[in-house]
Amino acid sequence: MPEARLRVGVMASGKGSNLQAILEAIDSGKLSAAVAVVISNKEGSGALERARGAGIPAIFLDPKNFDDRETYDTEAARILTEQRVGLVVLAGYMRLVGKALFEPFRDRMINIHPSLLPAFAGLHAQKQALEWGAKVSGCTVHLVDETLDQGAIIIQAAVPVLEGDTPETLQSRIQKEEHQILPQAIRFFAEGRVKREGRGVSLGRSPDARV
Ligand code: GRF
Repeated sequence: MPEARLRVGVMASGKGSNLQAILEAIDSGKLSAAVAVVISNKEGSGALERARGAGIPAIFLDPKNFDDRETYDTEAARILTEQRVGLVVLAGYMRLVGKALFEPFRDRMINIHPSLLPAFAGLHAQKQALEWGAKVSGCTVHLVDETLDQGAIIIQAAVPVLEGDTPETLQSRIQKEEHQILPQAIRFFAEGRVKREGRGVSLGRSPDARV
């Protein structure tokens, strides 16, 4: 029988706490999806370890084995397609994604970013927020396109920036929210609710309910 659940491919470079949040949302029955494969550009990443621990195919794609980003991205796209992935989730994936990778998954690839976009795109978003004296920051899940962190916004969560915050303390406050909104965004896809509308996307109703 064909599998009805949304098959998710996760790409990650870091400790994989967002991957963990996705897996926990699935395990608890709050999210009807399956992580089909995890791909990382970092051999010892927590994300790959967590995937292996959960019995999910975990693939280390070593950038050193590829001539350039295009050949790397082409291989990543091939694996994701082979795994019949319906949604690609960049969960702390610290490489730029080129056309060869995002084009086959246009409107089906999302990224989690630790700021309220369009503010503080790119690297070191928490440091940027502190340097600007922002009083509120947060996180954003958005569609991936040819821009850097400027694709259509799907869901956001705000946190206060507190007196004395460091990039690390702000990051840990933001991450708690990431672990809520990333599974929530995947649920919107699983429910077929994400529709392009002008510059952004419409979800049919307010993204109020938490996973
Ligand atoms: C997250 O804070 C995400 O916003 C950023 O990278 C971090 C990944 O964390 N892009 P983890 O590896 O999921 O713990």
